Amino acid sequence: MKIEFLNQPVTSIQTDLLVLGHYSENTKPQGKLADVDQALDGAISDLIQQGEITGKAKETTMIHTFGKISAKRILVIGLGEKDAFDQDMVREIAAVAVKTAIKVKAKKVASCPFGIKHPNIHEHHVTHSFAEGAHLAHYRFDGYSSKKEEQHQVELIQLIAEEVSDELKYGIECGTAYALGTNLARDLVNTPGNMMTPTHMAEKAIEIARRYGMEYEILERDEMERLGMGGLLAVAQGSEQPPKMIVLKYRGREQWDDVLGFVGKGLTFDTGGISLKPGANMDEMKMDMGGGAAVLGAMEAIGRLRPKVNVVAVIPSTENMPSGKAYKPGDVIKTMSGKTIEVLNTDAEGRLILSDGITYAKHLGASRIIDLATLTGAVLIALGDVTTAAMTNNEEFLADFMKSAKKAGEKVWQLPTFDEYKEQIKSQIADLKNTGGRLAGSITAALFVGAFAEETPWIHLDIAGTAWSNKETATTQKGGTGVMVRSLVQIAKHYGKYGMR
Ligand code: BES
Ligand code: MN
Ligand code: ZN
Repeated sequence: MKIEFLNQPVTSIQTDLLVLGHYSENTKPQGKLADVDQALDGAISDLIQQGEITGKAKETTMIHTFGKISAKRILVIGLGEKDAFDQDMVREIAAVAVKTAIKVKAKKVASCPFGIKHPNIHEHHVTHSFAEGAHLAHYRFDGYSSKKEEQHQVELIQLIAEEVSDELKYGIECGTAYALGTNLARDLVNTPGNMMTPTHMAEKAIEIARRYGMEYEILERDEMERLGMGGLLAVAQGSEQPPKMIVLKYRGREQWDDVLGFVGKGLTFDTGGISLKPGANMDEMKMDMGGGAAVLGAMEAIGRLRPKVNVVAVIPSTENMPSGKAYKPGDVIKTMSGKTIEVLNTDAEGRLILSDGITYAKHLGASRIIDLATLTGAVLIALGDVTTAAMTNNEEFLADFMKSAKKAGEKVWQLPTFDEYKEQIKSQIADLKNTGGRLAGSITAALFVGAFAEETPWIHLDIAGTAWSNKETATTQKGGTGVMVRSLVQIAKHYGKYGMR
């Protein structure tokens, strides 16, 4: 799908679908909608009068033009109240426009850059949010049906603009990168576990590295053994699939200092291992590499946008399977950090592979770390499928991240990491135990992971509730959501512009 600019009177634009907006407080059509209304002999004014077009946010009204203007159809979208209009609404409106275009099989769409000259929105955010919403809405997973129907493609979106600034153009580039990175993560999450193996995940990472000239490194089992990565190795023990420690390095600065580390859980299928999960909905555990997928999606976008920041991406990847060779409850393992762990539940495997992921990220020079993981069922109880949980050992770092997430339009909420919770993960016979009991499960899991970050500023994002969706919205499909890709890219861009100190 291509997005370009067009400077032409609205009534003469040849297109399958012309998308125009209407604020709820307007009693008459304004601007381009007024031009169209005139050409249609007041048809839109009538619809407003009759209360069919109200301007309520995201309301859609389809009008066929039957040759009265060059566009085949007009889609009038409600923009809500003008004062409440913002960047998030632009993304939503663009998404609704694209989903409608798909429904009516429109190939060519023309639209306004909604929010241009609006006091709430910076010029480049207008086109950023539009392109982002459009590409997010256009996403569909191909699937594997033998009698596959061709998915309708919107080929071109023309944004009507009298003058085109560099800001407006750069906005399209950014929004496109954020959304295509997100869509890449969605594809990875939606791919079934028999195909999305650790080996395949590593191949996908290498593709990104080659595409953008990044350095990469894939550690195999023997190297993990040499480095003492007992956390990842223990979880991998029961699987026939070889584990991979996947590393990408993006150099945005001369010196390899001030390195932002992204560590993503790449558990390609979580059966629970010997502490086997119940059968119902176990298929959804193919999403357990959602953290790793988000990291790869972010690297894709960072490769496109080239911010002036160093980023190291680390993804410990394996399956968690029961077998005669699998690790067991009661086992004690030693991680790369030297810390020992008493395994009480083999289903609490994410924190074990992340422990070595974080230690390795530090070893590679990460000076700030964000880890992402579908880590706990408990986070669904706390925040549902709406909000990602964030925990930290550094409030300033988290404040930067929260601002970035808000800008990116992703919902994140902090949970506490008070020392008292650490009591729950103390072991009698090792440095840590891998379960902290029923209370505050997301927090004790985070603190376990944070023990390996040690003094390095660190944020943990538990995306177990948000990486997968069972419902469709304007910007999402059912399945993998690609959550947190946009926030990661946003904070990378932020540090690229303002530095990390
Ligand atoms: N991958 C799961 C967490 C999960 C749950 C992800 C629901 C997505 C949706 C994780 O490995 C897990 O099994 N966690 C256990 C930890 C417990 C044994 C301490 C859990 O949350 O039940
Ligand atoms: Mn598990
Ligand atoms: Zn898991």
